[in-house]
Amino acid sequence: MRAWLLDDLTGIGSLRLAEVPDPIPQQGEVILRIRYASLNPADRYLAERQYPAKPSFPHVLGRDGVGTVEQMGPGVTGLRPGDRRAVLRSEVGVNRPGTFAERVAVPVDNLVEIPAGWSDPEAAGGVLVGLTAYQALTMWGALPPDSLVLVTGASGGVGVATVQLARAMGHKVIALSRSQDKSRRLLELGAVMTFDPGNPDWQRSAKAAIAPRRVDLAVDNIGGKLLPQVIDLLGDLGKVSVVGRLAGPVPEFNTATLFFRRIRLGGVAVGAWTSAESRAAWTELVRLMASTNARPLVDSVFSFEDLPQAFERLAQGPMGKVILDLGT
Ligand SMILES: NC(=O)c1ccc[n+]([C@@H]2O[C@H](COP(=O)([O-])OP(=O)(O)OC[C@H]3O[C@@H](n4cnc5c(N)ncnc54)[C@H](OP(=O)(O)O)[C@@H]3O)[C@@H](O)[C@H]2O)c1
Repeated sequence: MRAWLLDDLTGIGSLRLAEVPDPIPQQGEVILRIRYASLNPADRYLAERQYPAKPSFPHVLGRDGVGTVEQMGPGVTGLRPGDRRAVLRSEVGVNRPGTFAERVAVPVDNLVEIPAGWSDPEAAGGVLVGLTAYQALTMWGALPPDSLVLVTGASGGVGVATVQLARAMGHKVIALSRSQDKSRRLLELGAVMTFDPGNPDWQRSAKAAIAPRRVDLAVDNIGGKLLPQVIDLLGDLGKVSVVGRLAGPVPEFNTATLFFRRIRLGGVAVGAWTSAESRAAWTELVRLMASTNARPLVDSVFSFEDLPQAFERLAQGPMGKVILDLGT
């Protein structure tokens, strides 16, 4: 089969497309012939040694994928060759070979059905970011309906999923994007207002727009100098679910900003969930998405040979998910 191989942790620039032996299913594993895979920033982080993974080399990146069951290992029941399945977030693409390959061995516990009404590319793009968004929105316990939820990097994979799920949970979503065009799309997806974090006045405008209320929960994909600005908008007992740090470290952070409103910051780690926890969250998020007729948003689809170009698109800041079509 063909697979994109990572020989070392010197970055995605050294990925190479090669012919490798097909995987052999072990106890409890299924061989999935991948049709669509999706890219995540963590693929690049892993390749750049910025991610806590210890794969053996050559490694195959790719955590999300949809395909056809081809073969079942010993002990697998309840599946038949030809069944379509999506990969639930797991060690696939982290510490074991991933989905940027024509075939991948997946533990059967880490496969889920394609949700009704979702296309295969949507399902390939919706799993990891959907689970991340769900964890970010629920990790503090149930928020009262009509809470004000602010999402940074709202146009990206996690951001769009967070906007869709928060809206389905009955919250009011404030979305941040540096692009006018993407801000318009975010309003169509259910955000009630958008702001450009590149505009020096954005905090003042946002405060005026939500007054006398304040933000109840912020889901932060960006970090950097934006995080203290987001904290400034929170109300009493306001919370930040820290998902990503696309803008790098937070400069000159003053912990005093947390005192008087008893602000809480907490890290999101979608990889820390067990298969059972991921599956339970998946069931619930699929139900929520269906309740508003929402489906994952596909930004673009690249052919398998064009993985480097797909990573370039991801680095530009997509609107939704960047997908790889293996054409199998
Ligand atoms: N903790 C976890 O378990 C977990 C799970 C999944 C992902 N993550 C992390 O979460 C982050 C977001 O992932 P993603 O898949 O949504 O990424 P993505 O699809 O690349 O989108 C991120 C969006 O953020 C905005 N952005 C990018 N760089 C920015 C910057 N320097 N300043 C301000 N805005 C910027 C862009 O939107 P605009 O151009 O519209 O502004 C972009 O579309 C990544 O760091 C990822 O590694 C963490």
